[in-house]
Amino acid sequence: MACLVCDRPIEPFLSFGRMPLADAFLTEAEVEREFFFTLAVGLCDSCGMVQLCERVPDACMFHDRYAYYSSTSAGMQRHFAAYADEVRRRCLAGPDPFVLEIGCNDGILLGPLASSGVRHLGVDPAANVLAEAARRGLTVRQAFFSEQTAAGIEREHGQADAIVAANVICHVADVHSVFAGARRLLTPSGLFVFEEPYIGAIVESTALDQMYDEHVFYFSLSSVRHLAERHGLDVVDVCPQPVHGGELRYYLARRGAHAPTPAVAAWLDRERASGVTSIAAYRQFAARAGRIRDELAGTLRRLASEGRRIAGYGATAKSSTLINYCGLGPADIAYIADVTPGKQGKLTPGAHIPVRPPEHFRAHYPDYAVLFAWNHEQEILDKERGFTAAGGRWITYVPTVRIRPGSLT
Ligand code: TYD
Ligand code: ZN
Repeated sequence: MACLVCDRPIEPFLSFGRMPLADAFLTEAEVEREFFFTLAVGLCDSCGMVQLCERVPDACMFHDRYAYYSSTSAGMQRHFAAYADEVRRRCLAGPDPFVLEIGCNDGILLGPLASSGVRHLGVDPAANVLAEAARRGLTVRQAFFSEQTAAGIEREHGQADAIVAANVICHVADVHSVFAGARRLLTPSGLFVFEEPYIGAIVESTALDQMYDEHVFYFSLSSVRHLAERHGLDVVDVCPQPVHGGELRYYLARRGAHAPTPAVAAWLDRERASGVTSIAAYRQFAARAGRIRDELAGTLRRLASEGRRIAGYGATAKSSTLINYCGLGPADIAYIADVTPGKQGKLTPGAHIPVRPPEHFRAHYPDYAVLFAWNHEQEILDKERGFTAAGGRWITYVPTVRIRPGSLT
């Protein structure tokens, strides 16, 4: 396996075995033709990039039935409104600024900018989520962002004062094309800003379920900086974000355009000290991931053997890795509650657990609910107070398996 960034060999450190596509919720009829691939993750010792060892073609994952809509969480809507304010403040002060979003989904980030009249374009390959952005009045284009797409955008709209993205850049195997396109499109003082799950946080909390087909790369500042340098870009600022279990937001600019803030050097030092650039940390991560699997599967089987009813909450992409890695199925988890209409009535990938609306959960409280959307814990625990009031208990597994309220007994 060669590194997608620098072409040197990568060292696998964790294999989950055969896995389905994490967002491929399916009907009974589709079960026969379900797609599987080997999910394994490795580190490139040369450039520090953690990445998938086997990749799935983009068109299998990002299409006109893309299951994930960004606006399903109130917490994420607040987060993206603040992100939009930050972009407006740092990048859009000049006359008639133009902002481009790569992977705009339903317009959760671009929406607040567009509604204040900022010239903008949202690009996304998934027609269904993009239609939602268009309904919100956004200017959109259905495309995978690449160097070629960038050339067309430049002809039509000129260069961009801000190129923004969230949970998208780490999805694109041809990341060189994305960076080359962004470099080309940036105005001389423009910023390329994106935030992605942070490998330091994934390792620290053993968030093994962040690993799935769409997450081709697991960025650190060290690896992003190396990639940026190859494209004549500097990382000029970096800022942690408390979403999706811990992300880093990166600010890139043309070489020499802006002086880096002290945060950049501080985070690089921190990464060297924490070991996220060396294989030893990942081998330990893999061992901890195996222990979480054994403990969660063991706990659920024990509870089931005692006659407890168990459901899941949040049919996340992440849960696909966890559920299939643990070898769980409908006998262990009766259903998973989720607000997304397009997931409801379908089966989860691989394990084929039915997805039900939250109303079903409220009408059929289980004894235990596994919180698969653990990154939205506060929002969900607040809205489902009735569950614990009725004696229900939550099970979480990041960073360790816990039952709340109570202990593992
Ligand atoms: P998320 O964890 O954001 O991402 P991923 O799929 O990438 O792992 O997905 C959250 C899922 O949880 C999404 O399907 C919507 C669902 N959800 C609820 O059902 N209720 C809620 O209150 C929230 C916040 C999310
Ligand atoms: Zn590499």
